Amino acid sequence: MRTKMAALVAVGLLTLGGTAACTDDDGDGAGSSGGGPRGGTGSGKVGVILPDTTTSQRWGTDDPKLLKAAFDAADVPLDIQNAQGDKAKFVQIADSMIASGVKVLMTVNLDPASGKAVLDKAKAAGVKTIDYDRLTLNGGANYYVSFDNVAVGKLQGEGLVKCLADKKAKLPLVADLNGSPTDNNATLFKVGYDTVLQQRYDDGSFMKGPDQSVTDWNNKEAGVVFAEMWQQTGKQIDGVLAANDGLGNAAIEVLKKDKKNGIVPVTGQDATIQGLQNILAGDQCMTVYKEIKKEAEAAADLAIKLYKGEKPAVKGQVKDPESGAYVASVLLPPTAIDKTNIDRVIKDGFVEKKAVCAGRFAALCEENGIK
Ligand code: BGC
Repeated sequence: MRTKMAALVAVGLLTLGGTAACTDDDGDGAGSSGGGPRGGTGSGKVGVILPDTTTSQRWGTDDPKLLKAAFDAADVPLDIQNAQGDKAKFVQIADSMIASGVKVLMTVNLDPASGKAVLDKAKAAGVKTIDYDRLTLNGGANYYVSFDNVAVGKLQGEGLVKCLADKKAKLPLVADLNGSPTDNNATLFKVGYDTVLQQRYDDGSFMKGPDQSVTDWNNKEAGVVFAEMWQQTGKQIDGVLAANDGLGNAAIEVLKKDKKNGIVPVTGQDATIQGLQNILAGDQCMTVYKEIKKEAEAAADLAIKLYKGEKPAVKGQVKDPESGAYVASVLLPPTAIDKTNIDRVIKDGFVEKKAVCAGRFAALCEENGIK
């Protein structure tokens, strides 16, 4: 254990935090006028801007498909685009959507500054706004639709505790691979898993290891960060709290080089095909399934009402920690997934069995009773 301690001293510290900015009102005041700077006649669209296609399967596959289905069902015209991880492009897409007269703009911000800039422009043009999945700090969107992200983090922390107990790990050294420091969700996930893990550090049953954020959730950078953690601790890490499946996979790839995959439990999030396959292979201990269909439908329901000039009422509200303003919110509950309940994700139609159980995973699906 001494060696673990010594290794830890050398390890870098986490940086987490939002971007401070000036205050704002709560941005409410839905109405039926508008349609953008051209003065709408009601013929506008709903604009959706997704963040990237590399940090999670969801943004390139699940969200666009499920959002489109929800808007198609209501026959409401949709313009859905992806900023490909580029903040300038994010703003550019928003500018052109606003200029084309969208009535509602739904965004997943890439960082608070560009996210707020877009929300401000939308507001100035009379366009209603929805923060989709990520709260834009100090942004003052009209609505926010997401999951209970602290609960997501708690499931990850509890999942890791269970996996370490299953492995009968004694005084395990735990490393944290956090999401992007500019994503408020990453902050909330961390609040969730830290509450679970801190208790173990406090009672002396776990040891705190390296704890670092991964810029922009970049999976490649996560591999570099984890390789450093692994080296700096003298390859002593016993468990990895990875904030999503992509970061988890990056850690697994590093562990594989030392044949420690499957020995060192790694968490995840998003129930991606890759994450589920890593679970089947025994390399990842759990993931968090977020029913994106429900998230897309809840957001679409609000957007459609706003589009029709209604002012939808929602029960929840979330306090923006930067501005102190309350944002009308819908937050959905997440579900923990491990080897025993992968079925759930397939039965829901979120992933197809043939995708998860392809190739060498067919036998593992069979073994785990996945029908
Ligand atoms: C989302 C996660 C996703 C991550 C990286 C977060 O804001 O809530 O589902 O894995 O961003 O894209």
